[in-house]
Amino acid sequence: MSENGGLRPDPEELPLEAEEAVVAQEQREEVLEQARAEAVEVGGPEDYLMLAKDMVAGYVPGVNILNGCTLTLTEGEVVAIIGPNGAGKSTLIKTIFGLIPVRGGELSLRARNIAELPAHALVERGVGYVPQTQNVFPSLTIEENLQMGAFLRPQRFTERFAVVAELFPLLADRRKAKAGSLSGGERQMVAMGRALMMDPSVLLLDEPTAGLSPIYQEEVFQRVKEVNSTGVSVVMVEQNARRCLQICDRGYVLDQGRNAYSGTGADLLNDPNVIELYLGTLAKG
Ligand SMILES: Nc1ncnc2c1ncn2[C@@H]1O[C@H](COP(=O)(O)OP(=O)(O)OP(=O)(O)O)[C@@H](O)[C@H]1O
Ligand SMILES: [Mg+2]
Repeated sequence: MSENGGLRPDPEELPLEAEEAVVAQEQREEVLEQARAEAVEVGGPEDYLMLAKDMVAGYVPGVNILNGCTLTLTEGEVVAIIGPNGAGKSTLIKTIFGLIPVRGGELSLRARNIAELPAHALVERGVGYVPQTQNVFPSLTIEENLQMGAFLRPQRFTERFAVVAELFPLLADRRKAKAGSLSGGERQMVAMGRALMMDPSVLLLDEPTAGLSPIYQEEVFQRVKEVNSTGVSVVMVEQNARRCLQICDRGYVLDQGRNAYSGTGADLLNDPNVIELYLGTLAKG
């Protein structure tokens, strides 16, 4: 029986993997305690392209999933969000995109408050979003999927299609193919292409490499960099944390709806605590 009356198992009584998971969880709680003590210092809305500060949000009344996390995005950046399953990464992206009501904190785009805006108003203001799952219409062709992306400005379809097809030639080559017939990697290209049809200045990507083979993962990372080089600022949630931290400008480690660590990709990749808790053998805890 453990000291806390059985609420938490004694690591020594558990199989090795479970033992590591308990140790990792204890270390994470220490990290989060520290994060609470050192609330992230950020400037005002006018200092950033996008600011999500002290965000509180959740799905069920009275249960918060985001517990005061903060993320900033400066023009031209690729910013990564990594963290364990259930940390609230998708919830943060969805809250920024107006799919979940903001319960607390500040949310601004170009110094304008966007906390009350629904998703379509964000699309009009230049924010694109690619969800983690079900991000294409499988029964529609590639071309029709891209038309859906341009629904607010159908008159710009041809012009935008040309730009998007330059980035993702596959989309033009196979424009009449049903999205449902494509591989996972090809679908990600359709999903990103669709978000780019509205010519966004900010692109929110939720795990674009999930479920893809290493070669396709690399291709997606390269495409994200290319999109970024055309002037689109990117916030991306990633399960391939190491690779994502290599290509991003800055990253945030989110844990239990709070910031655990943040810094440049290189800082995070070299931080022994981040390595141990979030990138290394204990990361799956
Ligand atoms: N639609 C929903 N209704 C109620 N709770 C939800 C809903 N979606 C997510 N949650 C809960 O919110 C918490 C955070 O989920 P979220 O999807 O944001 O995590 P995540 O960090 O994106 O995880 P993953 O790495 O698995 O994608 C989880 O406890 C999850 O069960
Ligand atoms: Mg998620």
